[in-house]
Amino acid sequence: MKPRVTAVVGGQWGDEGKGKIVDYLATDSDIVIRAQGGDNAGHTIRNEQGKFALHLIPAGIFNPDSLNIIGAGTALNPKTLLEELASLEERNVDTKNLLIDPKAHLAFDYHRVLDGFQEDARGDYKIGTTKRGIGPTYMDKAERIGLPARLLLNPDEAIKKIEFVLERKRRAFPSLADKDELQADYYRDLLEQAKNRLQDIIKPVNSIIHDGLVNGKSFLIEGAHGALLDIDHGTYPRVTSSNSTVGGLLVGSGIPPRYLTKAVGVFKAYQSRVGEGGMPTELTDTLGDKLREAGQEYGTTTGRPRRVGWFDLPAAQYAHQINGFTDIAITRVDTLSDFDELKLGISYENGEFSPDDAELLKRKAIFENYEGWGEFKATSFEELPESAQKYCRTIEAAFADAKLTFVGTGQSREALIVL
Ligand code: IMP
Ligand code: MG
Repeated sequence: MKPRVTAVVGGQWGDEGKGKIVDYLATDSDIVIRAQGGDNAGHTIRNEQGKFALHLIPAGIFNPDSLNIIGAGTALNPKTLLEELASLEERNVDTKNLLIDPKAHLAFDYHRVLDGFQEDARGDYKIGTTKRGIGPTYMDKAERIGLPARLLLNPDEAIKKIEFVLERKRRAFPSLADKDELQADYYRDLLEQAKNRLQDIIKPVNSIIHDGLVNGKSFLIEGAHGALLDIDHGTYPRVTSSNSTVGGLLVGSGIPPRYLTKAVGVFKAYQSRVGEGGMPTELTDTLGDKLREAGQEYGTTTGRPRRVGWFDLPAAQYAHQINGFTDIAITRVDTLSDFDELKLGISYENGEFSPDDAELLKRKAIFENYEGWGEFKATSFEELPESAQKYCRTIEAAFADAKLTFVGTGQSREALIVL
């Protein structure tokens, strides 16, 4: 039997509703892997057990038959993970099917302090990071002074390494040198707790993945953030610090590229962006406020109000160029029900989509108008109001070789049309 490997990637700037798609696909996946990013990401999942906000643990945790892996490409904050595990267990979610790749890099509170400090010092070059320390964690990884998760198995060695790192940080950032978070002792308790709770689940995963591939298992790699935040191909410099495109998911999970069978691009029926940067279809008026409220567009991780706007086709087409989607999901079609008239950004007045964020800031969208579709109930695509069908098909047509596979029509697990 041939293995199936599906990668799910956000097609915009994050918060496309990937959680819903990933939750659906996870019910049919043997192995679910989170491959990049850290607790800067947040997936909201609603299922029969309730509403959950996951930051690090893959969505397959709700499927008793899936093995979940936090992959090598992630930035893993052990404190967040312990809290997330405890809160799932409190709600009777079985967490035993979880493994951590020992190669994942650890994010600590000193990374958060540095993230905040660097962000505040950026002035006009502000990114609007989540201040979860993810950028500084990947900086340390690239500098080869990071702490792989395997060090959690040996707290003494971890403390020694942390002290070595913090000594450098205190010299590099003298104004932060006295902060508790920049002293190694601050981490002793956490390291002990992490060892106690995690020692059995930090395990090499490559043989498990390889055996699964050889034996025809089904894999799901869940992306975080969104393609336009990819550090190489996104709207640099206002991007996250990992590769959030399909290629990054393969590297971060350790699944060889030859096995990829499906790449699902998840798009919201409109658009949102958190943090600074270009957004040619942004709505900054009361219509924008209405859309933000209708979609409850506030960060899962930070609670920040998200910037919102109409769907941006040129940006979506760029996302397709760098991901090669085979399938498209359009989520939150129901959110637009309150609007009598909708707009779709089909091109720009002044140039093409540019991943150079300074250039993109200058772009102004040209819109096509669509008739609103009002409230609806639909369990199949054909049951959607005609104007909603047309809207979805217009978006689908912008991706020459990808087909529309999912349409999200509400918050519940069932509110998903599979074409
Ligand atoms: P960082 O990932 O915290 O370094 O933030 C870098 C940029 O990515 C900022 O604009 C954040 O708002 C954005 N970002 C990071 N993760 C997410 C996400 O999951 N959803 C939306 N925006 C995100
Ligand atoms: Mg999110």
